[in-house]
Amino acid sequence: MANENPDISALLKDIEVKGASATSNTSDENARKALLESARSLVAALDPPFEVVAKMNWVDPYKWSTTRVAYDLNLFDKLLADNNAPKSCEKLSEMTGADSKLLSRMLKFLASCGFVAETNVNEFAPNAITAVLATRIVTGMTKNCYDTLAPVIATLPEFMSNTKYANPTDKNNSPFNFAHKTSQHYFEWLAQPENADQLQAMKDHMEFKTLGKKWFQSVDIPVIFNNLSSEKDATLMIDIGGSAGHDIIDFQKTFPELPGRLILQELPSVIASLPSIFPTQVEKVPHDMFTSQPVKGAKVYYLHMVLHDWPDESCRNILKNLIPAMKKGYSKILLNEIVVPDTGAGWFATGVDMLMMQCHAAQERTESDWRALVESVGLSLSKVWECEGSAEGLLEIELA
Ligand SMILES: C[S@@+](CC[C@H](N)C(=O)[O-])C[C@H]1O[C@@H](n2cnc3c(N)ncnc32)[C@H](O)[C@@H]1O
Repeated sequence: MANENPDISALLKDIEVKGASATSNTSDENARKALLESARSLVAALDPPFEVVAKMNWVDPYKWSTTRVAYDLNLFDKLLADNNAPKSCEKLSEMTGADSKLLSRMLKFLASCGFVAETNVNEFAPNAITAVLATRIVTGMTKNCYDTLAPVIATLPEFMSNTKYANPTDKNNSPFNFAHKTSQHYFEWLAQPENADQLQAMKDHMEFKTLGKKWFQSVDIPVIFNNLSSEKDATLMIDIGGSAGHDIIDFQKTFPELPGRLILQELPSVIASLPSIFPTQVEKVPHDMFTSQPVKGAKVYYLHMVLHDWPDESCRNILKNLIPAMKKGYSKILLNEIVVPDTGAGWFATGVDMLMMQCHAAQERTESDWRALVESVGLSLSKVWECEGSAEGLLEIELA
């Protein structure tokens, strides 16, 4: 059995070394992450195995469901009201309309999870996590994940048994299809008028999801955007499947001097849902990426966590629809995607892989998976850029 007698003093020594590095340069994201990983290893070594599995059953599911109910009561916003003043459960009951005894039980539990602070008997205040929970994008992320995936999680064992434990790769027969009793693909389902709240939650979720720096804050921009065309109508970058445009808008704000058109291409339902006040520097155009790319000779065709939603065959279709539009020696496809390490993959890469499997019958990929996929349509993976502090890399792809 691995790690039966962890060497606590070696783990403490490791924390001391990594701690010195992280505190000597507080803006070094990799040093902070290395220290956090060492601290987690120490916690894992000290946590009795029984408690680890008990928490999975007795705590983790209720953390999610209680938080989801709290959102319906606007409980985190209410806690933050009046300048974060501590509030009794009776006061919160008046503010939310929920039973004060129910609130007391929910908040005691959320305090034990570290999500709120318990300031007195039946009295609570917000903390730093409450403030994050109350933001629009985290609210959207939780509503999107819970409402989509709680039914999927509940029915997954039945789905897996029915499909004889095959690796899910059929986009039209996913655990999502089974749980929600629909033949629509997730993105088709999301486009239905009755799911407008979920579409908004999904867009908020997408805006939240990049942990750490964005790729364009990490990579060598002049190298990637080399030899830019000075033609009047040249296209600098198209963000394909860019949700509400948060990436391409941030890119424009970061590099306003780069010449050329910036275009957001999304499903008609997503484009129609965008606010009327939208940055004029970014064109927003409905486009189905499973059809031929209409904008020829762009410098960059950019897709951020789009291919991870699809099994290999669909990814090949998406890439094949870009190839005829690309100009040899000039155009690039940039994929901003998780690159799963061959060993020792962390919680983000592996957790999102489970999400992709269960929602889309899709997957996260290792570097060799990406290379095989890209080369299978005759393209060439010229470089994989690491992005500081992020599990997402940037795959630079050119015509072979
Ligand atoms: C996981 S989200 C990624 C969004 C965004 N790129 C980001 O990283 O925040 C995948 C996006 O692909 C879009 N999408 C799905 N099918 C599409 C299609 N056929 N054509 C264009 N976009 C599509 C969805 O609407 C969704 O916004």
